[in-house]
Amino acid sequence: MHAVYVFDAYGTLFDVHAAVRKHAGAVGPQADRLSALWRTKQLEYSWTRALSGHYRDFWALTEDALDYAFAKVDAPTDAREALLDAYRTLDAYAEVIDVLTTLKQAGAVTAILSNGSPAMLELAVNAAGIGPLLDDVISVESLASYKPLPAVYELVTTRFRAFPQTVSFQSSNRWDIAGATAFGFRTVWINRTGEPDEYADLPPAVTLSSLNGLERV
Ligand code: LAC
Repeated sequence: MHAVYVFDAYGTLFDVHAAVRKHAGAVGPQADRLSALWRTKQLEYSWTRALSGHYRDFWALTEDALDYAFAKVDAPTDAREALLDAYRTLDAYAEVIDVLTTLKQAGAVTAILSNGSPAMLELAVNAAGIGPLLDDVISVESLASYKPLPAVYELVTTRFRAFPQTVSFQSSNRWDIAGATAFGFRTVWINRTGEPDEYADLPPAVTLSSLNGLERV
């Protein structure tokens, strides 16, 4: 067991493809492509804005990315508001409540560290009912930048007065694991979809196919 368990939010605790899945009929045959592009562009915009120093919050980037994806795949935009509403309250993955409960019962500190704005994180955490299982929800907003800037991961060690190696950091995003490994966290890559490994010089300590069993690795 580690003293502190910190989770990425989008893709790790919350299923980013749940919004389009919910409205797939309205989006039409391009639904899967739209969902993938929506996510890819949202992340690209975060890196562009971090590196250029032109911060715009993650909710705005989520809207920008959806608009780009609609234009690119040429899907009808009627479902735009419904998709954004669904993104505010994405489904949590099935095992999330049990895993957090187990960690809390074992005495661990638990938290989210996310690119998400505080408002969008609050909505998602409340919708998933996991607020009571988290000691804190940490947003990048105070830094006006994005992962994988080292100062973002440092928000955790400052908040909990912990050394990086005492923190277990979980993310489904391999690039986020690379950043967290570089910072010095013990990293657990949640590879839900069997993606090939990358960033060979910045490997995860552990790879799991879901959060199940996290307390044992
Ligand atoms: C987050 C994004 C990277 O929650 O998924 O920080």
